[in-house]
Amino acid sequence: MTRAVPIVADIAYHDLLDDPYPIFRRLRATAPAVYVEAAKLTLVTRFADIAAIERDPATYSADNPTSLVNKVMGPTFMRKDGAEHTIGRKAIEPSFRPATIKDHWAPKFTVICERLVRDLAEAGEADLFTALAAPMASLALMEMIGFEPMPWQRLAEWSQALIDGAGNYAGDPEVERKAMQAGADVDAAIEAVLDRHRESPNPTILSSMVNADPPMPIEAIRANIKVIIGGGLNEPRDAILTLVLGLLANPAQKQNVLAQPELWPAALEEAVRWISPIGMYPRRATRTVELSGVTLPQDLQIGLCVGAANRDDQRFPDPDSFDISRPKQSHLAFGAGPHFCAGTWVSRLTVGRIVGPMLFERLRNLRLRDEAPPIVRGWVFRGPVSLPVRWDA
Ligand code: HEM
Repeated sequence: MTRAVPIVADIAYHDLLDDPYPIFRRLRATAPAVYVEAAKLTLVTRFADIAAIERDPATYSADNPTSLVNKVMGPTFMRKDGAEHTIGRKAIEPSFRPATIKDHWAPKFTVICERLVRDLAEAGEADLFTALAAPMASLALMEMIGFEPMPWQRLAEWSQALIDGAGNYAGDPEVERKAMQAGADVDAAIEAVLDRHRESPNPTILSSMVNADPPMPIEAIRANIKVIIGGGLNEPRDAILTLVLGLLANPAQKQNVLAQPELWPAALEEAVRWISPIGMYPRRATRTVELSGVTLPQDLQIGLCVGAANRDDQRFPDPDSFDISRPKQSHLAFGAGPHFCAGTWVSRLTVGRIVGPMLFERLRNLRLRDEAPPIVRGWVFRGPVSLPVRWDA
């Protein structure tokens, strides 16, 4: 016998933002799907359920006609299913090929990281959010998209304004105005470079889009670039910071990685499992369906809490610990199924093989500052918002 989705009304939104993990634990123990009033959404938190959902895209659609993403950014393939999704995904694929990542992006991202670390080295202390992770993620994404060079802060501001607009369920007019302005600025930045990419094909995402067969229509280019700006900047930034935090807070593991650099990839995977940069993303039930004994009515919006699934003790023993030596076990930080993150391999390389190793090699004796502890926030997106550190200048 199946039952209706239970409702939980006693969770405060600020508790979800501060530390969602005790709440996720409670939701996992309560039911496969729970309506959380504070989030105004039905949340799925168990690993096995999310993995099963992502194996069945016909029942659990990424398409949501009422989504603010469509309003703020336009129609994007990331919120489509089937052929419409596949066409868009295939169009950007050349920019994300393993050989392109290795031969084209890795050298460029190494240069960006070297410059940022060199500028930092003398200072002896910094907040790695603004001094390293945010500019690194922004400058790398700017190159990948194929924009003209601009201050890293500008792309970061567009990204934040678009994310805020896509989450503006309260309808705040100022948030909407800023999102629309950012959208117009992005359209102008695309316009400024599109002919160049059309005439001289190259590995950038804009070039892949405009030279695809058939070429991506301009409205779709605009929408998809906005989603990539909204979704391709925070995550690598937060992955860098979480990786550094995990290692600095666990000095024995840090020593192991420094002594055995081949452990870096495992450290990156553990970082994004431990604090997943995207904690939740949405799906919609296309028909009334039973999920592990709970009935989800047709058209119900659900939030897949991969940040909760990645701490499910049915899958990961001692899930709250950061432990780079845990047995290899796939996680859901990059999603799963047809919408599996297109940026997975480029992020693994940038964060796990370039930024992490370079930071610990060049900023000697890197350590946390006892008097200024790190601050980690968020549940839909989660990561350190401040990571003050010190090193031997
Ligand atoms: C550590 C870094 C990253 C993490 C943890 C991450 C996580 C994710 C997740 C969970 C999804 C699935 C969302 C959904 O199904 O609704 C996703 C999708 C996507 N990501 Fe990432 N991401 C990262 C970096 C990047 C970067 C750097 C880029 C681009 C340069 C990127 C581009 C994309 C795209 C295009 C999709 C949509 C794929 C599709 O719908 O087919 N990601 N990402």
